[in-house]
Amino acid sequence: MKDLTPDKASLEPIEIASRDEIEALQLKRMKWSLKHAYENVPMYKQRFDDKGVHPDDLKTLKDLSRFPFTVKDDLRDNYPFGMFAMPMDKIRKLHASSGTTGKATVVGYSDNDCDLFANMVARSLRASGVKPGEMVHNAYGYGLFTGGLGAHDGIHRLGATIVPVSGGMTPRQVTLINDFKPHAIMVTPSYMLNILDEFNRQGIDPKKSSLQVGIFGAEPWTNAMRKEVEDAFDMHAVDIYGLSEILGPGVANECVETKDGLHVWEDHFYPEIINPETGEPVEDGEQGELVFTTLTKEALPMIRYRTKDLTRLLPGTARSMRRMEKITGRVDDMIILRGVNVFPTQIEEQLLAVEGLAPHFQIELLREGRMDQMKILVEAEPNASTDLLRNQNAEILGRRIKETIGITTTVDVRKPGGVARSEGKAKRVIDNRNA
Ligand code: DLL
Repeated sequence: MKDLTPDKASLEPIEIASRDEIEALQLKRMKWSLKHAYENVPMYKQRFDDKGVHPDDLKTLKDLSRFPFTVKDDLRDNYPFGMFAMPMDKIRKLHASSGTTGKATVVGYSDNDCDLFANMVARSLRASGVKPGEMVHNAYGYGLFTGGLGAHDGIHRLGATIVPVSGGMTPRQVTLINDFKPHAIMVTPSYMLNILDEFNRQGIDPKKSSLQVGIFGAEPWTNAMRKEVEDAFDMHAVDIYGLSEILGPGVANECVETKDGLHVWEDHFYPEIINPETGEPVEDGEQGELVFTTLTKEALPMIRYRTKDLTRLLPGTARSMRRMEKITGRVDDMIILRGVNVFPTQIEEQLLAVEGLAPHFQIELLREGRMDQMKILVEAEPNASTDLLRNQNAEILGRRIKETIGITTTVDVRKPGGVARSEGKAKRVIDNRNA
């Protein structure tokens, strides 16, 4: 793998500023953001008043914990534009999350917000080792999803060449990578595996591809998966995080030189970790639910938005901004099986450790009598797909899961192609308990 460490001179000064400077900027911006939300969004005014807090009560960053939380249902209850802090003629762009059930959540951006979005993705790309003048294959889905167009504008802002492929038509993805020779790819990690299969199907050696770095996000993935993809393509794999309510991709990103968690772009997004049960903030280093307050967003300011994502905050390394550890999972992805908490990422880690198993998997939950059961659907690698090897590997994986996570599961190792493929965010859990 090529050393892609960016030139210090290419970083924005704030990325490597002192903690004091960063915190002074945060405090100034937080005061503005609370006031902006209070004065322009009726829901915030009502909530703050009900709690007996006023934006002027914020004297230090820690005072933020006196303000109320915001949750996804608030956006739904104010559907579509009720939480916008600017008149509609100042809104330049809308995005929405499909939401598998109920109404979509709609987010909006002013001119300055669009600028911020492009700048944060450009900063993320730089951290990933992409340089102006290089080419980026963008396979995040285009449309209402923030991934495709968000990445698009950031690639443009960096001064790189955009290949706006979107998701799907996997054979064509491989053809374009081969013919155009991009330096970087932006895509969900699960779809990258699908693209990897297609390289192999077409008899093209992925190691010989032009790709030097993949920028993967929009869903949880593990360090074991990082190794799998880095080895297969002989390229770097870095993590990009974000969510529509706060921005889209580009809220936090790993640095290619360290790959030790994602630096939160703290000059615009203020992170907190709370105990998801009590709502109390916890210290840096402790696990909990990630909460964000936007510091500069105009159209849709978000005050203490509960992401439901589980992680912890760590001190800066390659940049002075704090890092968040790779996301373990979401509060609502956590499976409680006979009293044990399990995340799909834990299953991913175990199955990647078994030779002969491919990284495609789904978890099916079933109910037999009054007992919940977990069935792991996974695929054999083509060279390990005989009945004998599949049975052996099923047993090995079942044993590993029992020993490391402590639960008994059924493992179904299928022939290559036997597990549903993703073209965007993978659906890891199929809950058939009430089927
Ligand atoms: O997924 C934004 C995005 C697009 C991020 C492309 C990165 C790349 P939403 O559709 O609103 O936005 O989904 C946000 O996806 O709360 C997490 O649960 C999950 N997620 C996003 N990035 C990561 C990541 C986009 N790097 C939700 N690791 C978030 C783990 C992630 N989960």
